[in-house]
Amino acid sequence: MQAVSRTALWVASMRATEAARPDRLHDDPLAAAVVASAAASAQSIPPAPPGAAEFMAIRTRFYDDFLAAAPLQIVVLAAGLDARAFRLPWPSGTRVFELDLPELLAFKAELIAATSLVAACTRVVVPVDLRDDWATVLSAAGFSPAQPTAWVAEGLLQYLSEPDKKRLLDTVSGLSAPGSRFAFDHMDTSADDRASVADALNRIRSMGAEFVATVSDPAGWLTAHGWSVAVDRVPALAVEYGRPLPDFMDPAAANATALCTVTR
Ligand SMILES: C[S@@+](CC[C@H](N)C(=O)[O-])C[C@H]1O[C@@H](n2cnc3c(N)ncnc32)[C@H](O)[C@@H]1O
Repeated sequence: MQAVSRTALWVASMRATEAARPDRLHDDPLAAAVVASAAASAQSIPPAPPGAAEFMAIRTRFYDDFLAAAPLQIVVLAAGLDARAFRLPWPSGTRVFELDLPELLAFKAELIAATSLVAACTRVVVPVDLRDDWATVLSAAGFSPAQPTAWVAEGLLQYLSEPDKKRLLDTVSGLSAPGSRFAFDHMDTSADDRASVADALNRIRSMGAEFVATVSDPAGWLTAHGWSVAVDRVPALAVEYGRPLPDFMDPAAANATALCTVTR
């Protein structure tokens, strides 16, 4: 598995922490299996920094809410070990395309087979490198650019270079029929000097992945390309969801992540 894909195990381990809470915001049926499999194969997943699981629970809920009112065609860019195809109550006729690197999706297929999970939608697995021409592969897998799409890029943009990020946004824009929506998160550079951010980035680097806080403004870029953009911040959403972030967390660091919803 490529180093960047190990970050998918890391966030899944945080979802396992959330699933064990009595006041959980979501219950991921794959997350515990990810943790068990990593332990059994001696794959080390770094411990989550203090507060990271709570932060991630808010991010997950944001995307769950976004998908609750989505068109029937969903594309999850960098799906990782996301189990939404199995756990969300999809309307009949929903198709969920899951894109990620081939090795990660092969690992996910083994986990799903072992847990006997059944998708609650038509789930289409599309192994691709999102730095390549993934649009052609997606179309060959049955995606229709004529239909409105809900796009999700959760925890992805931070792992792409600026040119790759722009190309990805461009491709999403080009494939989006009227009525499409797109949710993504990105972290700006405003909290680069905060200790908790440096700690999180070091843990990601220990997995061999490179996390790049974005210098450019993807939301601004999309606005210039005809999308309407709304931005949420994690601490405020946490209050809205009745799960304020722990007091010890640095608000400046938590605020550096933008949760963006864009429509056209
Ligand atoms: C932090 S994980 C997030 C996974 C998932 N969205 C979630 O929130 O659980 C980042 C994911 O991005 C994927 N990824 C990174 N670069 C990629 C690329 N060039 N092509 C396809 N997937 C990529 C990794 O394999 C990994 O699954």
